Amino acid sequence: MNRRKIVVLGTGGTLAGRSESSTDNLSYSAAQLGIEQLLAAIPALHGLPLASEQVAQVDSKDMDQALWSRLALRCAHWLAQDDVQGLVVTHGTDTLEETAYLLHALLAPAKPVVLTCAMRPATSLQADGPQNIVDAVTVALWPGAAGVVAVCAGAIHGAVDVRKHHSYRLDAFSSDDSGPIGQVEEGRLRLHRGWPAAGPVHPALASIAQGGGWPQVEIVTSHAGASSRLVEGLVAQGVRGLVVAGTGNGTIHRALDAALKAAQAQGVRVVRASRCAGGVVLGPPEDCFEPAAGLSPVKARIALQLDLMR
Ligand code: SIN
Repeated sequence: MNRRKIVVLGTGGTLAGRSESSTDNLSYSAAQLGIEQLLAAIPALHGLPLASEQVAQVDSKDMDQALWSRLALRCAHWLAQDDVQGLVVTHGTDTLEETAYLLHALLAPAKPVVLTCAMRPATSLQADGPQNIVDAVTVALWPGAAGVVAVCAGAIHGAVDVRKHHSYRLDAFSSDDSGPIGQVEEGRLRLHRGWPAAGPVHPALASIAQGGGWPQVEIVTSHAGASSRLVEGLVAQGVRGLVVAGTGNGTIHRALDAALKAAQAQGVRVVRASRCAGGVVLGPPEDCFEPAAGLSPVKARIALQLDLMR
C-alpha cells in the first residue's frame, strides 16, 4: 500500500491573505486565496503526492467551535484512510496554538498532522507562507513523523508547548522551556527530541460527530484592581467552566478569588492557570481549584471544554 499521500486542509489565515501592495504587511485581508491556488503557486510541491481540501476560509481570530468541529472531523476522516501518510493544515497564526492543541487532545494521532501558517500575506515581498508550506509537507512526509505539530520559520513545535510569542516577527512561535522538536533545514529534519505520543481518541470526538454543542467555558484574568463582577455575570448566564489566568504562579486577586470560590460552590468547574508567557503553575498539593497541568489559559479552556463534553 502506498501511504505517501499528504492531504492539505486549508482554513485561511494570513498565509492566504492578499494586500493591495507588496510592501503593505498590515492592511491586508486574510483568507482570500484558496488552498489549491496556493499549492499550485509553489513549484517545489509539483509532482508530490498531495491532495487538498478547503475546510474553511477565515481569519483565525474568528475561529469558532463550529469550525473546530468540522476541522476535527475532516482530520479524523483523512487520518483513517490507509493511503494517507499525514495531514498539513494551513491556519492563521493568531489561534494556531489553540487549534493545534485541540487536534492533539481530540485525536492524538499516530500519523503527523502539521499545522502551518504565515506572518506575511501571500502578496508580500517577504511572503513566508510558501516556504512554511514546503517545510510542513517535508515534515508530514518524514519517516517516523507523528502527532500534531506546528511548523513556522523552520522550527517544529509540539502542540502542547507551542505558543505565538511575537506579534510581528516571521519566527513568531516558541515552545518555551521545552524548545522545538526540531528544525527543517533545506528539506531535511534535525530533530532534538521525540514526536508527540499517539493515544486513543478523546471521548468528546463522539459528541462532536453527533453534532453535540460545546459547553461554555470562559477565561478570566487576575490583575491589579480585579473584581468579582465578571465572574458573577458569567455564573448568572450559566457558564459551565472558568479558567483563571492568575498572576505569576497562578495567584488570584482576593476579590476575584472569592467570586471563583462562590462560582465553584454553585457547580462551576474552575481551573487555575497563569497569565505568564513561560513556566507552569506549581500549585499547592491541596489546591481548591483544578490544575491547568502546565497548559496556557487558552489551552486549559479547551481541555476543560472537552472534559465537560465526555
Ligand atoms: C490569522 O490568524 O488568520 C491572521 C493573522 C495571521 O495569520 O498571522
